[in-house]
Amino acid sequence: MTTGLDGIIAAETVLSHVDGAAGELILRGLPVERAAQTLDFEGITALLWQGFHPLGGRPDALRDAIGRARVAVAAHLPTLLPAAAGLSDVEALRLMLSSLPDGAAADDAVRVVAAVPVFIAARVRHAQGLEPIAPDPTAGHAADFLRMMTGRVADPALARALDTYLVTVSDHGLNASTFAARIVASTRAGMVSSVVAGLCALKGPLHGGAPGPVLDMLDAIGSADAAPAWIAGELAAGRRLMGFGHRIYRVRDPRAEVLKVAVRPLRSPRIELAEQVERAALSALAAHRPDRPLETNVEFYTALLLDAVGLHRDLFTPIFAMGRVAGWSAHVMEQEATGRLMRPASRYVGPMAA
Ligand code: ACO
Repeated sequence: MTTGLDGIIAAETVLSHVDGAAGELILRGLPVERAAQTLDFEGITALLWQGFHPLGGRPDALRDAIGRARVAVAAHLPTLLPAAAGLSDVEALRLMLSSLPDGAAADDAVRVVAAVPVFIAARVRHAQGLEPIAPDPTAGHAADFLRMMTGRVADPALARALDTYLVTVSDHGLNASTFAARIVASTRAGMVSSVVAGLCALKGPLHGGAPGPVLDMLDAIGSADAAPAWIAGELAAGRRLMGFGHRIYRVRDPRAEVLKVAVRPLRSPRIELAEQVERAALSALAAHRPDRPLETNVEFYTALLLDAVGLHRDLFTPIFAMGRVAGWSAHVMEQEATGRLMRPASRYVGPMAA
């Protein structure tokens, strides 16, 4: 018996296809490489929502609706920010999203997508003793997030890199967080509850919590010369190298390449070290586990890209949620439209009544 549900089909979806052997990710018919080059966050969201939401397939109308919803959710900040004091950034996002009511699915989908960057940016400023900056409903989602956080109009190259990231991680088959969201959606609990369930699953270091530790790893290694010994020490101690390995991919995660290409023009000071650490890690992992292909996953170059965009490592998981909420919301609508209550079975291995 497998305890990780490997290979079990729990839903049919038109949203994304992951081919782990070929290293391919298709987002509604578009290879991730093409989606990341041609779409922004609102564009991929409109594509994912097509057929499930009145604004699906209408990126300009959706852009307007998300912009207006950013403004509307910002009204909640004065009560939410003090309530989130003392929590980690991802816990604060969880608390703030949970405060949104479950109502009409179409409105909730727009509201929850819009809320994520508003809440993250305001929380960053609140932690520095600064007032939130009002959303600009006419700005792009990624650019407005950077402006709301920093108080400066975003450098277009950084906003574009962030958009590339958000599109790249927008959906990925039935990963743990999407599965969690679909299970809750299958009970008809509502959009907000389902998305919060997704966020709770994303928080863990084996899923969306890895990119911060990737930077910690690069910092701990310090220089390319030190990489082989540091990596050998970690593996000998039985620890996992963050940013490597994947449940589905047996070759390099295609998203890692998309993000590696996107980070190059940003001149990350860490890129050279990262490429050398990646090479050393792959050769050490091949020797450590010759029976199991362990390749670079999306989190490795996520860390480099988000760092180069100027985002602190504590924000990496919340920003992952800012992209993945496009997919979660689409899956919730698809589950509600096409699915049944999810209720798997367990095999009892405890004692029987005496
Ligand atoms: N470093 C060292 N060893 C590893 C790694 C790694 N990064 N990944 C897997 N292994 C080893 C495990 O220790 C395990 O060995 P064991 O059988 O002796 O216990 C074996 O490979 C299989 O590991 P599982 O956890 O069963 O494999 P799974 O397919 O569930 O792993 C996972 C996927 C959780 C991502 C794993 O590779 C991992 O922990 N990687 C590091 C964390 C990380 O980068 N997470 C981000 C994933 S991408 C995403 O979620 C968006």
